[in-house]
Amino acid sequence: MSETLKPTRRTMLTRLGILLNAGIGAVLAVPVVSYLLAPLRGKNGAPYNQWVKLGPLEQFPEGETRLATFRNPVVRPWDGQTADIPCWVRRIDAEKFQVFAINCAHLGCPVRWFAASGLFMCPCHGGVYYADGSRASGPPERGLFEYEHKVEDGELVILAGQLPTLAAQDRTGRRKTCDC
Ligand code: FES
Repeated sequence: MSETLKPTRRTMLTRLGILLNAGIGAVLAVPVVSYLLAPLRGKNGAPYNQWVKLGPLEQFPEGETRLATFRNPVVRPWDGQTADIPCWVRRIDAEKFQVFAINCAHLGCPVRWFAASGLFMCPCHGGVYYADGSRASGPPERGLFEYEHKVEDGELVILAGQLPTLAAQDRTGRRKTCDC
C-alpha cells in the first residue's frame, strides 16, 4: 500500500469523533422518542386509554351531578394517590350521562360543582361553567372537557388514561359521544 492511501492521524480522529457523536446522539434520542410516543402507548405497550369502571348506575341519581374517582389505567408503583383521578358525573336521565374532567379548561385547576347555583366554578381565576359543562363566564375559552363513556352491565364506564382534551381526541380520532 502506498503512503498516500494510508489514513492519516487526522482522518482517524475525525472518523472516531463522528462515530462517538453518532453513538451519543442515538443514546440521547431514546428518551426523547419515548417521551414523544408516551401519549400513544402506556406501560408495557398497553394502550394508554382504557375503559375504566366508574361505578354502578345507582351511584349516580338522575338529575344530579356527583363526584366520582377512578384509578388511572396506566400507573406506576410510585404514583400512589396521584393515580386516583376525580371527575364529575352528571346523570341527565336513565341512560344519558355526561362525565366531565375535573380540570378547568383554562389552566387546569380542579373545578367544583355547586348544586344550589347549578354551576361549576373554578377557584383559580373565576371560570364558571353551566351544569352541562358549557362555558358561562371567566377566562376559559370553552366548556369542560368530557370523557367518552358508555353503560355496560349496569355500570358507568369511561375511556380514561389521558385527559380528554381536544388534542387527545384528535390523536385518537374520537369525539365525545354525548349529544346533550
Ligand atoms: S384555571 Fe380555571 S379559570 Fe383559570
